[in-house]
Amino acid sequence: MGWDNTFSKRLAARDLTVGVIGLGYVGLPTALGFLDAGFSVRGVDVTQRVISALEAGQNPGDDPQHDDIIPSSQSDSWKVSTNSADLVPDCDVILVTVPTPVTEERLPDLKYVASAGAAVFDAVAKNSGTIVVLESTVYPGVTREIWSPLLEAAGLVEGEDVHLAYCPERFVPGDEEHGVRQVARVVGAPNKEVGEGLRDLYDTLTTGGVTYVGALEVAEAAKVVENVQRDLNIALVNELARIFPVLGIDVEEVLDAAATKWNFHRYRPGVGVGGHCIPVDPYYLIEKARAAGAPVELITSARAVNRAMPENVAKDMATILNGHELSISDSNILLLGWSYKAGIGDPRETPAEPLAVALGAMGATVQTFDPLVDDRLFPTDLATLVRAEDDISPFDIAILVTAHDEVIGMDWAKLSEKSNQPIIYDGRRVLNVEMLESLGWCVYLLGAPL
Ligand SMILES: NC(=O)c1ccc[n+]([C@@H]2O[C@H](COP(=O)([O-])OP(=O)(O)OC[C@H]3O[C@@H](n4cnc5c(N)ncnc54)[C@H](O)[C@@H]3O)[C@@H](O)[C@H]2O)c1
Repeated sequence: MGWDNTFSKRLAARDLTVGVIGLGYVGLPTALGFLDAGFSVRGVDVTQRVISALEAGQNPGDDPQHDDIIPSSQSDSWKVSTNSADLVPDCDVILVTVPTPVTEERLPDLKYVASAGAAVFDAVAKNSGTIVVLESTVYPGVTREIWSPLLEAAGLVEGEDVHLAYCPERFVPGDEEHGVRQVARVVGAPNKEVGEGLRDLYDTLTTGGVTYVGALEVAEAAKVVENVQRDLNIALVNELARIFPVLGIDVEEVLDAAATKWNFHRYRPGVGVGGHCIPVDPYYLIEKARAAGAPVELITSARAVNRAMPENVAKDMATILNGHELSISDSNILLLGWSYKAGIGDPRETPAEPLAVALGAMGATVQTFDPLVDDRLFPTDLATLVRAEDDISPFDIAILVTAHDEVIGMDWAKLSEKSNQPIIYDGRRVLNVEMLESLGWCVYLLGAPL
């Protein structure tokens, strides 16, 4: 039935069906969240593996939080399919949570937004008032630019047959305090009543509060700006981590000292910025600004600084090994952690990958110890993946890339026996240097003089 003047009554009675298109890191917890909030849910994903797992009551993803909450079978309140046409006609509200990556040229790749939208609009009935919400991260203007022509081509009229809205997702995968049920949301929609209806709907999903912010484009821009700000802040400390060692100063000591001031924001330098959001989303704004002829130097430079970090670390490795009379060109390098972030198995945009590429280009052989990383996404041409500490081969230098608990809590005494002169570079500044040195390790730290 979609949007009409009974929406809030049906919402209160949980008599609404919510469709989710794209059941990945964002879509699956969203679908499960609305199911738990009492709504009927329809889930669509074009990947057969995802739907087959869900049909069998299994978790298709790598977040264990979902293991026990996936319904064991389909019912009136939970149906999944690879085909939008099967389920879209059931839905009052449809949330689209498909990927928004960048191309090899680092330009916005909106093909998933377009194909998901086309399939939805083809299946929406005329006069249904279906509300279609884009949740994927985009630049301001995408929802209209991509979807308006598609809905018109499907013979639909915006504001009558279908209502468009945008509600960015802000959750952090693997972080129980910032999941889809906790984070604050913003909703943009041209129709204020629809926007406020959606605000009330999302209010049943999250305890974090939901704000109707007016125009679609404001909500679209807000999301990308949130991630641009993080990229900029991290780029600043990463640049400082290159400056201060040259001056003989440890950047962490400087940041600790500066952080005693009330309004200093403490960020941590590292091997690089990973994940599906921060290293990707700024390119959306960069491209849109460029195309519009607006200046975008600072955001572009921040990206370049963060992107250079893995290569900087690879160069540091050559210097360190030289100092130990070893050559990087025939060295064996152990990367501790491969996922882009501690505690999760997601390797998308991990800085470990460009680091392994740079080390490989210098002639090094790379092995990685990561008990969590999703091995379906591991590039076996770049490195060997080792799951158990005992299976680690002899190495010349270890680089801590991802601060998994399983890495920090390794048996460092045993690991040191796999090297003639155990050397470690802490790329996240999380290790206990005194303890390691007492075990005979030679320790180098990102951001400290080598
Ligand atoms: N992962 C995060 O932490 C996070 C956080 C906030 C926002 N986002 C944004 O959310 C969006 C989705 O990200 P994600 O991490 O969930 O991606 P994902 O790759 O984990 O999942 C996307 C899913 O969409 C499916 N899909 C692709 N095209 C489809 C189509 N036409 N119809 C139906 N299903 C389709 C894929 O098979 C996949 O399962 C992106 O825009 C991302 O930037 C992600």
